[in-house]
Amino acid sequence: MKGVILAGGLGTRLAPLTNVTNKHLLPVYDRPMIYYPVQALVDAGIRDILLVTGGGNAGDFLRLLGNGAAFGLQHINYTYQKGEGGIAAALRLAEHFADGEPIVVILGDNIFQASIRRFVQRFARHGRGAKILLKAVPDPERFGVATVRHGRVIAITEKPTRPASDLIVTGIYLYDAQVFEIINTLKPSGRGELEITDVNNAYIARGQMTYDRLPGWWTDCGTFESLLRASQLVARGHRRPARRAVRGERLCAAG
Ligand code: G1P
Repeated sequence: MKGVILAGGLGTRLAPLTNVTNKHLLPVYDRPMIYYPVQALVDAGIRDILLVTGGGNAGDFLRLLGNGAAFGLQHINYTYQKGEGGIAAALRLAEHFADGEPIVVILGDNIFQASIRRFVQRFARHGRGAKILLKAVPDPERFGVATVRHGRVIAITEKPTRPASDLIVTGIYLYDAQVFEIINTLKPSGRGELEITDVNNAYIARGQMTYDRLPGWWTDCGTFESLLRASQLVARGHRRPARRAVRGERLCAAG
């Protein structure tokens, strides 16, 4: 199983923060955003990672991550997306890297608490088709929204004005090698992009899509509010053990 992180795009919703840098290099609490998906893949046992980026600051990823020594890696693969073609167009660049193996794809602005190790391991063992990870959120209209019937996802609608449920499709996807064949059949959407939701709906149409619920907290970082929330959620996780340590110290001092 190989890992692909999609970290391109112009991040225009975060201007002026993204005027001179890539969204995925912005800070989330104490680290650059891109550290989190890399760490998530490493924690899932994946060592073979491709980073797809683009825009004017692509070289900064190489300067920041190098060969991944900070994550215990020996090597990171990089590729460059020219222009803005959408998430599925960025993923198409991973075909050569995947080389027929199943892949786990993470959108570089998705920050989440739980380990995805068990989903990855299960998919690696007998994974055919695709698996998505769903999460209930208060603002589903910002995302791809899943319609689930009798334990199966029957449709995904991208950014619906009237969401069918509060269950959204997180940016963590497990795909077999069919994904590249599917991408080649896609037509650009209304906003001129190849949509990852169309890839997922193609797997649904083939009867080859499964889902799990992602435990723990999850957020994207596409807006000022969600970027701030990501920092707060990460910071809260960091503070908990620190507080315990402080209490421990006090107890020692009192004793
Ligand atoms: C993308 C996908 C959407 C998914 C979301 C998760 O949206 O198109 O289906 O729910 O990522 O972060 P975007 O961030 O491009 O608006």
